[in-house]
Amino acid sequence: MLAIPGEDATVTDHDIRVLDDSQYRAAHTLFRGTLHHPPAPDEMWKFVRGSYEPGRTLGAFVDDEMVGTVQAFPSRMAVPGGAVVPHAAVSRVGVRADWTRRGVLSALQRAQLRSFAESGDVVASLRASESAIYGRYGYGTATRYRFWKVDRRRAAPRSRIAGRVRLVDGEAGEQVARALFEELSPGRAGTIARWPGWWDVNIRRRAAEENFKVAVRSPGAGAPDDGYLMYKVTPGAHGSSEDKPTTLEVLDLWARTPEAWADLWLFALGVDLVGRITALGRPLDEPLPWLLGDPRACEVTAEEDETWLRLVDVPAALGARTYREGAPVVLGVRDAYLPENTASYRVSADGVSRVPDAPELVLDVDVLAAAYLGDVSFSTLATTRRLDVVEAGALARADALFAVTEIPWCGSYF
Ligand SMILES: CC(C)(COP(=O)(O)OP(=O)(O)OC[C@H]1O[C@@H](n2cnc3c(N)ncnc32)[C@H](O)[C@@H]1OP(=O)(O)O)[C@@H](O)C(=O)NCCC(=O)NCCS
Repeated sequence: MLAIPGEDATVTDHDIRVLDDSQYRAAHTLFRGTLHHPPAPDEMWKFVRGSYEPGRTLGAFVDDEMVGTVQAFPSRMAVPGGAVVPHAAVSRVGVRADWTRRGVLSALQRAQLRSFAESGDVVASLRASESAIYGRYGYGTATRYRFWKVDRRRAAPRSRIAGRVRLVDGEAGEQVARALFEELSPGRAGTIARWPGWWDVNIRRRAAEENFKVAVRSPGAGAPDDGYLMYKVTPGAHGSSEDKPTTLEVLDLWARTPEAWADLWLFALGVDLVGRITALGRPLDEPLPWLLGDPRACEVTAEEDETWLRLVDVPAALGARTYREGAPVVLGVRDAYLPENTASYRVSADGVSRVPDAPELVLDVDVLAAAYLGDVSFSTLATTRRLDVVEAGALARADALFAVTEIPWCGSYF
């Protein structure tokens, strides 16, 4: 039970409860309302319902009425070095408009973070509707992604498909894609395991409504599949000077090898009558322009924060990833919501330990999360005054230890 700050404090209290099956639809309606969407119609709910798993949705109540909700899906995340840790994927966060800015989300966050810590989740992550919300709860931006727009008729690919790309219809397509995805993610640092409800909501529901296609790649006849592309084409004008071009949206593209990656893009670039290709949520290092005869045919239309990461169990998270060779550094971590994480940690290539030593760099847990997967250096965070430097030489040591060879990326929106 938590007293509401301000004038109402003596009038009403709200409490946080774990929701049960009979309350999921109301929670979903509440959440959709906070995003200004109408309640899910029955057709949609039949796909969404299964993504509410027991014990994972919280509601905030005032006088027995639900005014806010948060949810988390069970998942795993890869960290630098290849280890995979238990991960809670936070979503469906909303507080009813007549109860905002009175501490409802803070109370939900406090309860949710505590439940993650108790159930052994090492990290949590989310996608933020607004960047001002989650830093205070210890979430930092740990991966970014980019959006592409390609003028297909100008692209002039430099090479041809080298293996075999085939279309696989219906459920069989989803099954092949899912099996490949599960082999490839979690893999790269930042990638995660998707839960069954992810496929129901993001693929099955939309495939039923929107004519998805699945293209599967193999090196040749009889060889195992090594990549897939899920896409959707929205017909527009088919001519060459178009206001409303026929558009192919790349929805999901995963490949085991560079050859598979190139072939899947070449396939997309070869689909007839398409004027424009768009791709959302792609990794920052995707080398698309190099595939094209006219690199200017593709344009990055946005580069945004992707993963907001929360280190729930700081010693376990620090201990799970690997570090480059170099002299150790002592980090002083502050965590207001999970104070058991507040401590000095000595990080070295040989491992991580909690130490009584004075810290050389002092930072809040959201700032540590931003640096954890390697997307941003400690030097950049110091330059932008996000951490305190006690020992000047420590910055270079921390940068060296945490450096990664591959930019982290998640690639699964939730
Ligand atoms: C975002 C949202 C859940 C916040 O809920 P809330 O109950 O108002 O949050 P709280 O009252 O606990 O806020 C805690 C602090 O965060 C700040 N804050 C919360 N939401 C904020 C926002 N959108 N922008 C700026 N600051 C925000 C509050 O001002 C408060 O600051 P303070 O502690 O300095 O006073 C709510 O505004 C909402 O439902 N928004 C629409 C849906 C949405 O965007 N959901 C998130 C999906 S990722």
